[in-house]
Amino acid sequence: MIDLEFKYKKLLEFIKNNSPFTPKISVILGSGLGNFVSSVNLIKSISTTEIPQYPASTVQGHSGKIHFAEIENKKVLLFQGRIHFYEGYSIDECILPALISKELGCEYLFITNAAGGINQNFKPGDLMLIDSVIGLNIKNELTKLIGLASFEKKNVFLNFPSNDFNNLIRKSAKHINLDLKEGVYWYNKGPAYETPAEIRMAQKLGADTVGMSTIPEAVFANVLGMEVGAVSCITNYAAGISPTKLDHSEVTETASKVAEDFAKLVLQIIANVK
Ligand code: HPA
Repeated sequence: MIDLEFKYKKLLEFIKNNSPFTPKISVILGSGLGNFVSSVNLIKSISTTEIPQYPASTVQGHSGKIHFAEIENKKVLLFQGRIHFYEGYSIDECILPALISKELGCEYLFITNAAGGINQNFKPGDLMLIDSVIGLNIKNELTKLIGLASFEKKNVFLNFPSNDFNNLIRKSAKHINLDLKEGVYWYNKGPAYETPAEIRMAQKLGADTVGMSTIPEAVFANVLGMEVGAVSCITNYAAGISPTKLDHSEVTETASKVAEDFAKLVLQIIANVK
């Protein structure tokens, strides 16, 4: 097992020294939620380029900032931009938002992302609570990272998502009259989108959405003892589900259309955490 606290000593020290408070909840803002930060009370913002050892973001629409904010009377840590496995980073870099959140004392991690819709009943613009994951292709890396020390830790996927936190997310959606879908997220390491045949396979095996993020940091945060939940914005029909060809611009366009509803859900979740 890699000693992450040793490897990222400088990074963690920098973050701790620059943290104005102990946050309650950490939120990783996915595609389309980048503007969320402009509507909340920011106490302090750090560009990830200032943080020693922090990997540089390479994706369009992911600007790379960590914000400390006060929202709904809660102290909140916000990650604007994330670290994707498909950008060529190692698994121990992908889980840094989880490690940082834990180091600063967060009890909850809420993750948002963009995903392709596989379930025929879902359409672009829908929001889906992840109730389970198909992540066979990342299990090996995650298990190696976390270590084989104990039976409990070896079963890294068992506790994500957290039941209690998912109930809180459901309740929050109801509170704002949001029709929150639920389903299984298929993790694709990327960087390529899936082929229509791969999507037909995923559909047969029970996947409702597909995406290339979230799972490494979600599973790791859970192993660290945080309550973790995630919601996908379905930005497009997955390959072959609709006749049109997939394009990243479709992903960002749909995500910005539903940004308002998504932001309301994030605010309500923050308001509801105890
Ligand atoms: N596939 C994988 N990742 C995605 C997709 C998709 O269709 N849409 C948004 N992220």
